[in-house]
Amino acid sequence: ANDNQNLEKLAVAKAAIKFVKNNDVVGLGTGSTATIAIKELAKLMVNGLKIIGVPSSEATKELAASLGIPLLELGKVNSIDISIDGADEFTENFELIKGGGGALFREKIVASLSKNRIIITDSSKKVNNLGAFKVPIEVLPTAYQYVVDQLEKLEGSVTLRYKDDKIFITDNLNYIVDVDFGLIDYPEKLGVALNQIDGILAHGIFIKLTTTILMAKDGNVITYSK
Ligand code: A5P
Repeated sequence: ANDNQNLEKLAVAKAAIKFVKNNDVVGLGTGSTATIAIKELAKLMVNGLKIIGVPSSEATKELAASLGIPLLELGKVNSIDISIDGADEFTENFELIKGGGGALFREKIVASLSKNRIIITDSSKKVNNLGAFKVPIEVLPTAYQYVVDQLEKLEGSVTLRYKDDKIFITDNLNYIVDVDFGLIDYPEKLGVALNQIDGILAHGIFIKLTTTILMAKDGNVITYSK
């Protein structure tokens, strides 16, 4: 990320935390933009704001704990007041691709549990059609080859994700495949098709899981609201 992108991320992080109210249960996203928002939230807490965080990844759990944010475990909450997370791509129709950081499954559960779902991005993430960013899909290792075959039947070009010369392993101990479907005309339809494949824990197409998108552009914050 260049300096301008980092300034954009800070601007939207600051805008997002204004939506957080005292005593809220807050879903904490994953990635560089969410990290900035979490640090800004921690600053507000020094000034008296009380929140309880629900982390969407082990990395975010560690970060939030190190900043002194009290946490609830995702598996134990049935409702979240507001969540703040990043995205890898979004459209003005509130369709997203997430999972660049590999945390898509827990991020999806956090978003699903949240009443107010805020996505924060810099201007590089906005697209007319999803799909230039490959769709991250979390796959159970025991079903790997089966899932690859099914994805190829959907005309996806599948790449197993690696990190430092080793297969990338998620917080849930699964693999991620990054799948190129070309530009996606019907993301909701593709998401439904992916949901039918046994062995896929979650895919990175997020539909109807966002209420507000805050995008920084040229020093301004642009708000897309449902
Ligand atoms: C993590 O799994 C992703 O969904 C992130 O939200 C996404 O990769 C955005 O990350 P950045 O804020 O670092 O771009």
